Amino acid sequence: MTQDTYVGAVDQGTTGTRFMVFDHDGAVVANAYEKHEQIYPEPGWVEHDPIEIWENTKSVISEALREASLDPDQLEGIGVTNQRETTMLWDADSGRPVHNALVWQDRRTTRRVEELEDDGRVEEIREKTGLEPDAYFSATKAEWLLDNADPIKLQRSRPEDIRDRAASGEILFGTIDSWIVWNLTGNHITDVTNASRTMLYNIRETEWDDDLLAEFDVPREMLPEVRPSSDDDYYGYTDADGFLGAEVPVAGALGDQQAALFGQTCFDEGDAKNTYGTGSFFLMNTGNEAVKSDHGLLTTIGFQRSGEPVQYALEGAIFITGAAIEWLEDVDLIDNPAQTAELARSVDSTDGVYLVPAFTGLGAPHWDQRARGTIVGMTRGTGKEHIVRATLESIAYQTRDVAEAMEADSGIEMGTLRVDGGAVKNNFLCQLQSNIIGTDLVRPVVDETTALGSAYAAGLAVGYWETVDELRDNWQVDREFTPEMDAERADRMYSRWDDAVERAKDWARD
Ligand code: G3P
Repeated sequence: MTQDTYVGAVDQGTTGTRFMVFDHDGAVVANAYEKHEQIYPEPGWVEHDPIEIWENTKSVISEALREASLDPDQLEGIGVTNQRETTMLWDADSGRPVHNALVWQDRRTTRRVEELEDDGRVEEIREKTGLEPDAYFSATKAEWLLDNADPIKLQRSRPEDIRDRAASGEILFGTIDSWIVWNLTGNHITDVTNASRTMLYNIRETEWDDDLLAEFDVPREMLPEVRPSSDDDYYGYTDADGFLGAEVPVAGALGDQQAALFGQTCFDEGDAKNTYGTGSFFLMNTGNEAVKSDHGLLTTIGFQRSGEPVQYALEGAIFITGAAIEWLEDVDLIDNPAQTAELARSVDSTDGVYLVPAFTGLGAPHWDQRARGTIVGMTRGTGKEHIVRATLESIAYQTRDVAEAMEADSGIEMGTLRVDGGAVKNNFLCQLQSNIIGTDLVRPVVDETTALGSAYAAGLAVGYWETVDELRDNWQVDREFTPEMDAERADRMYSRWDDAVERAKDWARD
């Protein structure tokens, strides 16, 4: 009897690494997850250990297969999805990272971005990359690493050797997708969506940009080859003699937010989704046109299939949403995320308290690198339930900020919004979000759409799925939320949010 076959997906996120296996209907047949350490060497700095990430990747793959009693040969392909922008350099020979990865949330290069503003480079960067110059993206992180990587970790290197070695291709640059693909296949590759987040890639010409490489002094030789997100030529194969013990094609990769767009089957112009993870990332497919934002959104690459043109997206990148709930847990206001609903429901309102979770600055549509977390409006009667409710409301308000910007930029009125990510398990939050934004929300059965999207990308490339219509057929509604609050009350609550945001802005000093 022939065994059933499946497609696997590595989902390497900000807080942990997941491996999921999907069947032809897009249902989950195996799932394993492991967290990794968040390293905060200084306020505003955030690092991950790439070795820990790779070790966890191997262990979740093995664990998921073992627990579901699957043979690795049953995998027809593997896709990769990842926290975007997080940047690392490694030695091509030894495979050793030269420094911890600088996480997308890391703010150490804020001054450098301000220099770009002083030098009048902002418009050029916006035009070429679609991005708002910010420490969020990879370019200034790569420059920092080339300037500061620890020569001892490079063994035979002196500090001044790092750029020379990078220029001869001995030191490699990569976002986390590249690190995973390199470890899985031995090939140095990134996909177009991840390249579009580096601030080194021209999204219109679809090529690395020489002027930007010169600005940040990043040698071209250290960069990965840029390939379609779903690649019929495959990125490579896993090693039959390696940890997996099978030769499986690795054939797709997307940054996690683009993967969620793909997993939510937002294949057509105007389709939009919002993912609630560490942050929230609201993306709308704009087809083959790179729409320039006049309202603080990013223009980014949505996905590309082999032999097809690039599809673009507008993106509202909100840095902190789910991470604000984690923070409530860290400071012992809650024992677990599920408790937020119960506490928030125990009061009718926040009694005028607003919490702006600008822990790592503010992203879309405000773009303030020096903003910091702020709570305003507290009185002696403020209790933890008000703070918890204000935290959930901040997620809904930030999403309304970007939804309004999206409507203004695209000219498309928001229809039903597809939502996914860890925090949408919280029904209270989903209902609140629908109330505040005044639109229907729909949650699919598979809410791990990032993993699903990268499995779809790899599965299309290897022929496990033939057409995107099969994927559309797989998409199923779990629950819909319709606005229950009158619009006037929602507008009143939202109207003071902007005042609170103003107070959070420009707080941090060097
Ligand atoms: O741009 C950052 C984003 O890709 C991180 O996503 O889900 O790991 O918080 P997540």
